[in-house]
Amino acid sequence: MGKCPDCGKWGSLVEEAISTASLAQSDRGAMFRTRKAEPVAYAEIESQNDSRQPSGIAEFDRVLGGGIVPGSLVLIGGDPGIGKSTLLLQVSNELANIAGKVLYVSGEESERQIKLRGERLGINPTALYLLAETCLERVFEEIDRLDPQAVIVDSVQTVFSMKIESAPGSISQVREVAGQFLILAKNRTIPVFLIGHVTKEGTIAGPKALEHIVDTVLYFEGERHHNHRIVRAVKNRFGAANELGIFEMTGRGLTPVVNPSGLFLSERPIGVSGSVVSACIEGTRPLLVEIQALVTSNKYGTGRRMTQGVDGNRVALLMAMLEKRVGLNILGDDVFVNVAGGMTTDEPAADLGIVVAIVSSFRNRPVDERTAVFGEVGLAGEVRATSHALLRAREAYAMGFKRWIIPQGNMTGLDYDDGIEVIGVRTAIEALELLF
Ligand code: TYD
Ligand code: MG
Repeated sequence: MGKCPDCGKWGSLVEEAISTASLAQSDRGAMFRTRKAEPVAYAEIESQNDSRQPSGIAEFDRVLGGGIVPGSLVLIGGDPGIGKSTLLLQVSNELANIAGKVLYVSGEESERQIKLRGERLGINPTALYLLAETCLERVFEEIDRLDPQAVIVDSVQTVFSMKIESAPGSISQVREVAGQFLILAKNRTIPVFLIGHVTKEGTIAGPKALEHIVDTVLYFEGERHHNHRIVRAVKNRFGAANELGIFEMTGRGLTPVVNPSGLFLSERPIGVSGSVVSACIEGTRPLLVEIQALVTSNKYGTGRRMTQGVDGNRVALLMAMLEKRVGLNILGDDVFVNVAGGMTTDEPAADLGIVVAIVSSFRNRPVDERTAVFGEVGLAGEVRATSHALLRAREAYAMGFKRWIIPQGNMTGLDYDDGIEVIGVRTAIEALELLF
């Protein structure tokens, strides 16, 4: 078929040949047959509590939920050139020095190229082994011989199994390879890291196709034009999803950012309208971000809206609320909303920040630089309580903010620090009156 009967796109169908013979002989089939599963009493199952292996890089441990779980299959996705190989080479270096032999399988670069990168990073691993090989069966042979404590595969799209006819990088190959590494990880109880490219075509044979197979999915976010890199746990069977690791790309690889709030606020303009600080919770960590808005009048009366880092629909909804409940004549204007520093947040707690930034720009009145806001805003203009209010307030306090405007619902039962003025509001109008 040339056209997909479902979505209507042309030329989007990919042929996938499945040979039944190879499937029956495959190791995956074999594993399920030889290991006869029996019901096990819940109480008798050994717990795996403190068996996490620190990776030696605190920010990386944080995204993984507190260290590497033995036997886990971790997928690391991201655009080309964003730093996947760099990060994993640094992790392999640390692991090789603390945990034992590490095998870095590369189908993209030669051993020399990797060494060159390693020299740039200034690493000196004792037990790191490189293997430039793309045949899955050969890789497995070498793993059997070397018996490593961790395996890195760079990238999953370059590896192919001889049991499958389609080309490396095709969806059936990528799935088979990931499936085989999953079995390997579980059988040997070692962590396996798969690097996956986000392909130009989007989702086909990219990391998305593997998300359900692997235990943990990490994505590099943000742009290559920024110096910092955000690694987000999109899925994690062993920890909080949405957890962030924040790194800075330096001449010597990726270094963890100690104070991310400081980083995101470092270039904040002071005394300029359309900018306000809010706090979001990413995973278990509070982060202060600067929300910016620019409202300009539009001659044609059909306003454009553009957003970066926040959901465009959410902004449209909040603007409609501003028009109707606050009486701001704003729907004909061009409105741009941006989270500074390439951060992305989809938390409703950012609503009040978006509202305040838009009104600040609309009225051309700056927000006091030591004031921060958070809260979910509803369609009636009401400000609703959010989770982790104390965590957010503490972070703001640590960063020197003196005044917090927060939902009234978050005022009760919480013990905010002295020296910070916390004001609860019930509606967006109340917040705007306090600020402007
Ligand atoms: P890389 O890890 O090769 O990206 P990926 O594997 O995701 O495709 O990263 C390549 C980029 O990182 C490249 O633009 C150069 C930059 N870089 C540094 O800035 N400093 C360094 O120490 C290293 C190793 C790379
Ligand atoms: Mg790479």
